[in-house]
Amino acid sequence: MRITPLAPACGIEIAGIQLADTDGDELEAVRQAIYRHGVAVFRSQDLTPEDHIAFARRWGGIDINNYFPLNDAWPEIALVRKSAGQQTNIGGAWHTDHSYDQVPAMGSILVARMLPPRGGDTLFAHMGAAYDSLPDDLKDEIEGLEAFHTADHVYREGGLYAQTDIGGELRGQDLKTGAVHPVAIRHPQTGRKLLYVNRAFTIHFVGRTREESLPLLNRLYDAALSADNQCRVQWEPGTVAIWDNRTTWHNALNDYHGHAREMHRITLSGEALAA
Ligand code: SIN
Repeated sequence: MRITPLAPACGIEIAGIQLADTDGDELEAVRQAIYRHGVAVFRSQDLTPEDHIAFARRWGGIDINNYFPLNDAWPEIALVRKSAGQQTNIGGAWHTDHSYDQVPAMGSILVARMLPPRGGDTLFAHMGAAYDSLPDDLKDEIEGLEAFHTADHVYREGGLYAQTDIGGELRGQDLKTGAVHPVAIRHPQTGRKLLYVNRAFTIHFVGRTREESLPLLNRLYDAALSADNQCRVQWEPGTVAIWDNRTTWHNALNDYHGHAREMHRITLSGEALAA
C-alpha cells in the first residue's frame, strides 16, 4: 500500500490495493489513514455493487440514506446523480453529511459510475487544519460552545432542494431532524481537535439566536475554507473516494451542465461526538 498526499493538509491517494479484497490489518491501515487525512482516493478499482456493500460492512455499520433515491436492487446504495437535463446537483455546496443527526455518520464510500467528459470534481476541506489555523482568541471563544444542526430547511416540502429540479427525486420530506454538537469536537479515533460547524446544516449556537450566531459562524466558515486546508478529488472511471465526515467538509462541483454524472454512495455509521 503506497500513500501520496493530495495536498499538504488534506487528502491522500492510496495505491497498491483493491478495496474488494481489503480486510484485516490492511483495512485498519486504510481506516487510520482516512481518520488522519480526511479523504482517500483509490484508482482503478474493480468494485461491483455487491463488493461495495461487502466492503462497507467490513468497515462497520451502514446508514441507509433517508433522502436520496436508492438503488432498486441494493437499497444500501444511495444514488448521487444528475442527468444531462438537470441544473442542480446533490451536495453542490460546502457541507458535512449528517451533522443534523445526533449520532452523525462516520463517512461515505463514493464510487464513480458515470462521469461527465470533464468537471464534476469534489472539493474537500480538512477541519483539523481549519481548527489549528484559528487565532487563539477565536479558539477561546468557541471553547465549550455547542451548536444546533438540522436538515429540515434543505429537504422538507418547500425546502431548498424542493425548489430545484432534483426536488422531485428526493424522499423523506416529512422527516424532522435536529442535533446539538460541540463546535470543536475531538476526533473519536485520533483525538485531534476539529471544527464541527458547517454552512449547510448548522443553524445557531445553543443559547443564541441565528442572528446573534451568524457573525461568529461566518468567521469560522471563512477560516475553514482557507485554500491551505483544501484538496480536490478528480474522478476517473474506477475511482473510489472514502471520506471522514468529522474530519472534512466536501463540495461536489456543478460545472458539467449538459452531461450526466452518477455516483454510488454508501454512508458508514458513526458515533456520538464529544468536545
Ligand atoms: C455528496 O455526497 O455530497 C456528493 C459528493 C459528490 O457527488 O462528489
